Amino acid sequence: MKKLLIDGKKILSGSIKISGSKNSTLPILAATIFNNHTVIKNIPLVNDIFTMLNLLKFIGLKYKLSKKKNLVEVINLDRNINTVAPYKLVKTMRAGVLVLGPLLAKYKKAKISLPGGCAIGTRPVDLHLFALKKLGAKIKIKNGYIFASASNGLIGTKFKFPSISVGATENAILAAVQAQGVTTIDNCAIEPEIKDLINFLKKLGAKIKIKNRRVVIKGSIVQKKISHGVICDRIELGTYLIGGALIAKKLKLKNINSNLIKEEISTLKKMGVKMKVKEDYIEVYRATNLQNINIKTKPYPGFPTDLQAQIMILMTQAKGLSKIRENIFENRFMHVPELKRMGAKIEIRNNSALISGPCLLTGAEVMATDLRASVSLVLAGLIADKRTNINRIYHLDRGYQDLEKKLIKCKALIKRV
Ligand code: EPZ
Repeated sequence: MKKLLIDGKKILSGSIKISGSKNSTLPILAATIFNNHTVIKNIPLVNDIFTMLNLLKFIGLKYKLSKKKNLVEVINLDRNINTVAPYKLVKTMRAGVLVLGPLLAKYKKAKISLPGGCAIGTRPVDLHLFALKKLGAKIKIKNGYIFASASNGLIGTKFKFPSISVGATENAILAAVQAQGVTTIDNCAIEPEIKDLINFLKKLGAKIKIKNRRVVIKGSIVQKKISHGVICDRIELGTYLIGGALIAKKLKLKNINSNLIKEEISTLKKMGVKMKVKEDYIEVYRATNLQNINIKTKPYPGFPTDLQAQIMILMTQAKGLSKIRENIFENRFMHVPELKRMGAKIEIRNNSALISGPCLLTGAEVMATDLRASVSLVLAGLIADKRTNINRIYHLDRGYQDLEKKLIKCKALIKRV
């Protein structure tokens, strides 16, 4: 099994081109089911995207991927369509469940494997099913699969999500764009990735308005050749921003939209991180006098859960006691025992982590448990004394394109063996 070896304390400098957003590309790929010819640009070359492309192929679509151009062309000829997402593809990537909305809306039926739990929590799909039922779908669960049907098509309606979910909002929008009439949904997630999906669907003729947490959708998809460039990966951007604050003389992050990470920039500034922030690039410099801070993870525009593990590393270097309350997932502190093995002083109390700093991290053999936990170990390795050995790095390849190449270009001592 592959691992990463990092020799810490090497000062970084240089520039990193941020990839397109994984979590934007995934629902947009699911939406290509609606269209005959779609070109998607700025896609990240990461394993979750390849899994989604495999799923589309299983369903009966064709695709041509240009790795050089970070571009994929997806064709749906509506021939030999298999309205199924099998267990083997959904179990490796939960976002497979996002084909449910488009398959049901377009072909009036779908059989999708239940994704099950994962390392960061139980992660049910009840809110996805709640929305589809409101739109008129009949849903049965049998043998680990969701069987959904709408023999007369989905019908526009009005409902409110009992709690906020990114995936359920996406599935609901993806179903409603081909429902009869108007759908009004309240208490939606409004992550930038959802706005990107909406902009994509608008190019296909859907009429969608978003105001506060209300989304109003008038389904009217027209098949036509369209091209769409996905937004930058704000979590990858935040990850390298924290990396720069930890140990860069100067790190320039390019191919971005800094407006997507206002909350993160404000949090880092409060901690004492010095940055030059422009709309399309950010320069960040190693912080010498980091201050402690308390944060709570929240749906967008709040501080993202996907950056919680990474900011924890910065907190280990801040003076005093910092606190993180994880409000989104019930089990997202698995990086903590590994960080403690590297010398971090962290205490978990229910859904909060208390981090005392500053403390010296020392290299150790550690194990990655999910995507963001893995990258937090990389950040820890970059500042640790001596060598850090990170096992199970396949998690990283699910979501970070060319991680070690990007870091090596900025002088990090990191290699994959
Ligand atoms: C998306 O997951 C992201 N994944 C996650 O990114 C991210 O952590 C998460 O949103 C929160 O921002 C993709 O976009 C592909 P949710 P999703 O539904 O949609 C509960 C990463 O590292 N819930 O907003 O699955 C759920 O258990 C990943 O890139 C229900 O109770 O997240 C959680 O507590 C990991 N019932 C909360 O809602 C449901 O039907 C928010 O989950 C659905 C969710």
